[in-house]
Amino acid sequence: MIKVSSVKRLDRTDVLAVFVEEPATKDAKPLFKWDVLSGDACRRLGAALEKEGFRGRVGQTFVWNGGESHAERVVVTGVGKAASRDVDLTIRAAGAAAKKAKEIGATKLTATLPPAGKLGDERNAQAVTEGLILGAYEFNAYRQPKPQKSYEVAEIVGAPERAVKLGEIFARATLYARDLINTPAGDCAPRHLAEAAKKLAGANVKVTVWGQKEIEKKGMGGLIGIGKGSDEPYHFIMLKWEGKKGSKKVAVCGKGITFDSGGLCIKPADGMGTMKCDMSGAAAVLAMFSALPELKPDCTVYGYIPAAENMTGGSAVKTGDVLRTASGRTIEVNNTDAEGRVVLADAMTVAREDKPDELIDLATLTGACVVALGDQVAGMFANDDNLAAGLDAAAKRAGERLWRMPIVAEYRDLLKSDIADIKNSGGRWGGAIQGALFLQEWAGDQPWAHLDIAGPAWTDKGLSFCPPGGTGFGVRTLLEYVTAQGK
Ligand code: BES
Ligand code: ZN
Ligand code: MN
Repeated sequence: MIKVSSVKRLDRTDVLAVFVEEPATKDAKPLFKWDVLSGDACRRLGAALEKEGFRGRVGQTFVWNGGESHAERVVVTGVGKAASRDVDLTIRAAGAAAKKAKEIGATKLTATLPPAGKLGDERNAQAVTEGLILGAYEFNAYRQPKPQKSYEVAEIVGAPERAVKLGEIFARATLYARDLINTPAGDCAPRHLAEAAKKLAGANVKVTVWGQKEIEKKGMGGLIGIGKGSDEPYHFIMLKWEGKKGSKKVAVCGKGITFDSGGLCIKPADGMGTMKCDMSGAAAVLAMFSALPELKPDCTVYGYIPAAENMTGGSAVKTGDVLRTASGRTIEVNNTDAEGRVVLADAMTVAREDKPDELIDLATLTGACVVALGDQVAGMFANDDNLAAGLDAAAKRAGERLWRMPIVAEYRDLLKSDIADIKNSGGRWGGAIQGALFLQEWAGDQPWAHLDIAGPAWTDKGLSFCPPGGTGFGVRTLLEYVTAQGK
């Protein structure tokens, strides 16, 4: 991860990143004026940008080698219109600047801040810090020889120190999740998630890992049923951040399917290619815990990860099999590829035993949610408007996109089983809603929200702030959410 620091004024650098706002109206000209550049440099760069037709759209970049005395090269990046500026767009813009600087082989990157506008100075600087780090990320663990590193440090002129520190914490946690997601399933089985969790244990973080014996004793037939078709043993991982005495208790479950072959209802090759990402919910939970000791939220935070590989081994669950969950309720598995909800059912039951005030789950649950919202927006389902509003606000502050979806009670009929209490799949229509309806059964009267992150957990083509692969979606929203509790 690149190191970001705040500097008071601009010293000589290799690449200088400056930002441009898009004019509010179609006919107006963008303002090409920067305090860090001399009047002459502003004029010449402005002329070059004008010639290029540079408008300042979010993430639009322009590289200038015009001989500014402070910098070898200048990367100009658009941040969009002032009226639409938010954390998300600022991260996208800063990410584009970092990516461009990497592309042109920058040895040192110095950035100035875009106008803070309604973000305020602190959040603006934090978002730029996050964008610079996220945009510079690469996953090179499996490449040889290691690609030559571009810059390893970035400076931001005039950024509040605290904002840079916070930005680093948020970005580091996000990259922690990306690394876990990008690690191939062969090297990231349930036992590896358990190992990763154990490394997070510390003064205020307690970690407990259950193996087959404890899971059987608890009667978690859902997790067992899904996990038993693999040679890799399943695990159940629990984490706890001890907040202030008597503070709110927030529980977060993360789907930890380390590879989803679909089971006997096997996926076609096309759909299976990226299924190492099916533990992205678990990665978000672990990543959140990696940052809690630095952020020290007041509330108590619980994490629960049902970790299993969905495979087709000789003891794999068969369609029509009925699994008895820890809650006592039975599930007819009519589709072995709807495995996430089955393992989460058990996780939610164990979570509820700790009597949390709120229960949140993150899961790459349904392809249907990706059809509905695409790959940059997560679906949010909740049985509690307060919790939904809190998460919505946290996502906005974090710069991640959530959209609340309806839980349509009438569709519950689709999940009626002829033989068990519920079946795990009710056909194609409203697939994301069906997933939520299924999970809701295990939430009961508990305030609960479900984030279907199947779309944004992964990017095929890459984004300005993320190369192709795992994105670490959800980490920053969770961190925003828990740090805002009790405030
Ligand atoms: N892990 C998948 C969902 C998924 C799809 C995640 C695309 C990321 C990208 C999940 O376990 C799954 O297979 N869901 C099925 C459910 C169906 C069988 C009811 C789906 O979406 O097709
Ligand atoms: Zn899955
Ligand atoms: Mn599946």
